[in-house]
Order: sequence, then structure tokens, then C-alpha cells
Amino acid sequence: MLEKLAGLDKEAQAIIAALNTIEELNEYKVKMLGRKGEITALLRGLKDLSPEQRAEVGKAANEIKDKLEAQFNSRANEIIRRDRNIKLQQEKIDVTLPGLPMQSGSIHPLTRIRREITGIFTGMGFTVEEGPEIELDYYNFEALNVPKHHPARDMQDSFYITDEVLLRTHTSPVQVRTMEKMVPQIPVKIIVPGTVYRNDDDATHSPMFHQVEGLLIDERITFADLKGILMQFARKMFGADLDVRYRPSFFPFTEPSVEIDISCVMCGGQGCRVCSHTGWLEILGAGMVHPNVLKYGGYDPEKVTGFAFGMGIERIAMLKYGINDLRLFFDNDKRFLEQF
Ligand code: PHE
Repeated sequence: MLEKLAGLDKEAQAIIAALNTIEELNEYKVKMLGRKGEITALLRGLKDLSPEQRAEVGKAANEIKDKLEAQFNSRANEIIRRDRNIKLQQEKIDVTLPGLPMQSGSIHPLTRIRREITGIFTGMGFTVEEGPEIELDYYNFEALNVPKHHPARDMQDSFYITDEVLLRTHTSPVQVRTMEKMVPQIPVKIIVPGTVYRNDDDATHSPMFHQVEGLLIDERITFADLKGILMQFARKMFGADLDVRYRPSFFPFTEPSVEIDISCVMCGGQGCRVCSHTGWLEILGAGMVHPNVLKYGGYDPEKVTGFAFGMGIERIAMLKYGINDLRLFFDNDKRFLEQF
């Protein structure tokens, strides 16, 4: 058996030295040292030897195994080094080629528009407030004069977390949250940019979108103040020549309520997919703050009045940039985003 081992050893050494690729080497290693390999098979015969012989042959076999193992490794290293040298010699790098330009990011169009909107209002003395996106039913509906089971809840299909907790469907809950914080100070003169959520999904509605809320409470605030401020906003945002119309509307938290439309910039008022063939685009909802909402906020509707408005940032951005599908804002396609 010792002779046989020595023979295998010699043979293996010659073969290992002659092998030229890692694949061949691995294959041969398995053939020799693997579980079904030749040396392993030979060792199985040990059990038929006397104890002294077994010790002697076993020792020799293990030495050979270790030696072969080492040889496999050193041959593998040789091959790797050889291949790397070949590659290095073949690879010619032209160090005079111009480098790749740094890719610089750009501001997302919605961020741009949000900044523009808040800029116009802070310029008129409004301050910026924020509120939670996960909101209590109380602030999202109840304190805005929308009782449970009131049909007005159908205007905003909501994502509920529990019966009392939901993803806010608008930024209006921050109206009452801010009143609670400020009462009895006047004026309350805030805008509230933020993310809101509704169970809607098509070319002009996304389940996640953004609004800017506005609220002005003071003594003797009238509908004329609402018109003055919002006209000023529309002119600054879209230019003085755009058509604007006030449409009577309904919101439970304002009375009276209006929706403000702008002539469709996609089709010039002719009617198209974006304006649902009406020629007009609704840009915001507004109205005089309902006395009940003032009361929920802690203010006395006999002493103060106010107006509120809410607008969708996506909608304004679509108008401003002539974008016909709202989903483009959220696809994260650089070819789209790079244009702003
Ligand atoms: N919260 C309303 C909406 O999301 C908009 C609105 C805000 C209307 C404030 C009136 C006053 O549709």
C-alpha cells in the first residue's frame, strides 16, 4: 500500500504541474482528494491491515494528502498570476481619453413649485406650518365639521389605519391644530405645505400627492380678502393674463365655498384630456372658515372671521410646465426630471 501511495503521489505531482486552467485543476483535485477520490478509496483498505501497519500507512497517506493539497494551491496561484499578467499586457488604457462627467442632480419639479407657492405667500406675510401625515379622524374630519357617517366623507376616499387613525386626505387638519396652538392670538396667517393620501389613481389623481393649505383668521376678514389674496397668488404664479373663474362649491369646513379655476393651459380652453374637455382646470378650493371650525379651534366666530384654501401642488406644476400626466412626477425617470 505504501508503494501504491508513493506511485499515486508521483503521478499526481506530474499531472498537477502540467494542468493549465483552474477548472482542470479543480476537477483533478476532486478526482484525487474528493470523497470518492483515489486516495480516499485507497485509505478505505486500511481497515484490513494490522494496527502497526495501519498507523504507518495512515500517517504516510495523510502526509501525501497534505502535500498534494499544498501543491494544488500553489499551482492554482501560479495560474491566477499568469492569467492576470496576460490580461495586464493585453489591456491598453488610453490615459488621454476625457473622463466621465459628474452627473449633477436637479431639484424635483414638485419641490420647485412648492417653494414657489410658499414663496408667494410668505411674501404676503404668511408663515409656514406643518402637521402629521398620519392623522386622527378627529382633525381630518370631525373638527372640520364633517361628522361620522356624513355623506361629505365620500368626497375624500381615505386610507384608514384604525377606526380613529388615517392617512390625512388633505392638509386642512393643520388648520385646527394651528388654531389650538395659537388661540387667542390673531392674526392666524399660515400656509401648510404637505403630503396627503387618497384612494384615487388615474392620469390626474395619485394616491399620494401634495397640497398647500392656507388659513387667515383675523377681525373683519371678508370674502373680498379671500379674492384679493388668491387673485394676487394666481397672477404671480401664472401671469396676469390668465383667465380665472370662481365657481360656487361645497366644503363642510367653509361657508360659502368656492372652487377657483384657471383656463386650461394645455388646450387654451378648447377642451382636452387634462381638463376633462371643460376648458378649465380647478386649481384650488377655498371659502370662509365655517363658524363651527373656528369654535373647534377655540376661536369665537362672533369676534373673528377667516378664509381658508387648499391647492394641489401637482396640479399647479402640471399647469405651469404643461405636463399631461401626473404619474410622471413619481416615475423617477431621469429623462423627465432632468428637464426642470
Ligand atoms: N381641503 C380641501 C380639499 O382637499 C380644500 C380646501 C381647503 C377647501 C380649505 C376649502 C378650504 O379638497
